[in-house]
Amino acid sequence: MRVLGIETSCDETGIALYDTERGLCAHALHSQIALHAAYGGVVPELASRDHVRRIVPLIEAVIREAETTLDAIDGVAYTQGPGLAGALLVGASVASALALALDKPLIGVHHMEGHLLSPLLSDDKPQFPFIALLVSGGHSQLFFVRGVGQYELLGDTFDDAAGEAFDKAAQLLGLPYPGGPALAQLARQGRAGVVRLPRPLIDAPHLHFSFSGLKTAVLTLVRQLQHEGRFDDQVRADVALEFETAVVDVLAAKAFAALRQTQSRQLVVAGGVGANQSLRSRFAEKAAAADARVYFPEMAFCTDNGAMIALVGALRMAEGTRDYAFHVRPRWPLMELAAVESEQR
Ligand code: KG4
Ligand code: ZN
Repeated sequence: MRVLGIETSCDETGIALYDTERGLCAHALHSQIALHAAYGGVVPELASRDHVRRIVPLIEAVIREAETTLDAIDGVAYTQGPGLAGALLVGASVASALALALDKPLIGVHHMEGHLLSPLLSDDKPQFPFIALLVSGGHSQLFFVRGVGQYELLGDTFDDAAGEAFDKAAQLLGLPYPGGPALAQLARQGRAGVVRLPRPLIDAPHLHFSFSGLKTAVLTLVRQLQHEGRFDDQVRADVALEFETAVVDVLAAKAFAALRQTQSRQLVVAGGVGANQSLRSRFAEKAAAADARVYFPEMAFCTDNGAMIALVGALRMAEGTRDYAFHVRPRWPLMELAAVESEQR
C-alpha cells in the first residue's frame, strides 16, 4: 500500500510517499517561518495562500524523488484536522481532486495521530503497546497506545500546552517567532540555579499538566529582574535555561510515572517540543536508569511534516479505512478517533 500524504494544517506544507512494505519513499517540506516571522506569529490567510503556491510543486518533487508516477500510488491521505480551517482546506481540496482524477481512495488523517505514530517512521521503532508523550504547540498529553487508533488518555493539560508555554515564555524574553527553538538556543548560554521557577503539579498524584502558572511566573520574574536593573542578556539566558529545565522536569516526572503505573518499558515522545535537545538527553538518561527505552521521531519528523500523514494514511488504508467525504475539522479531539482492530503496522 503506497500512500501520498499531504500536510497543510498550519505553517508547513509537507508532502510524502509512504509504502507499507518499503517504508518512506520520499518526502518534501516547505516551512513558512520566514513568511510569518515579521508578524511574530502565523497569519492564517498568508498560510493558506502559501500552501496554494507550494503544494503542487512539492507533490511533483516527491513523485520525482520516489522515481514513480501518480498513477502508481494506491491512495491519497491529507490532514483533516485539527488546524487552521483555511490551511486545512488547501490540502483537503488538492487531495480530493487528486484522488478523484486518479480514481484512488482518499483518507482524512488526524494531525495528532500523525505525531503520535511518527516514531514508527524510524528503522528502530517501538512495538505496541507503548506510552506516548505528545507535546506540541496545542497539546500536552500522555497516552497508553495499544495499536493504531487505540489510545487511552492518561494525562492532559488543564490549560496551556508545553509548546504554547515555550512560545509565550519566549515572547516574554523578547525572542522572535517561532519561540520554542529560539528559547532553547538562548538557554544554552544560561547558568543553572541563578533564578528559580516553579515545577507545576510535579508532585501531584495524577498525570495531568498545567503550564499557565509557569508562564505567569516567568512574567513576574522578568518584571522583578527589570525592576532591579538585572535583566541583561546573561540573565535572559539564565531565565531561558531555568524555564526549559522546569518544563523538562515536569514532562519527565509525569512520563516516567506513567511508565511505572502501567509497567511499560517503552516511551515515545512526539510533537514539536520533542525536538528539544535538553528534553531528549534528560529522557535518554532517565530511561537508561529505569531500564526502559525512549523513542523519538527523527528530528525532521518531530515538527509538522507530510511523512507522518502518509504513514497514518497507509496504516489505516491497509486496514480498509476510506473517507471520501470532503471536510476539514479545525477542532478535533484525538479521543474521537475510531480504533483499528488489527495491530498491523
Ligand atoms: O508539533 P508542532 O510542530 O506543531 C503543532 O502541531 O503544534 O509543534 C510546534 C511547537 C511550538 O510550540 C514550538 O515552539 C515547539 O513545538 N518547539 C520547541 C522546539 N522546537 C519546536 N519547543 C522547545 N524546544 C524546541 N527545540
Ligand atoms: Zn503538529
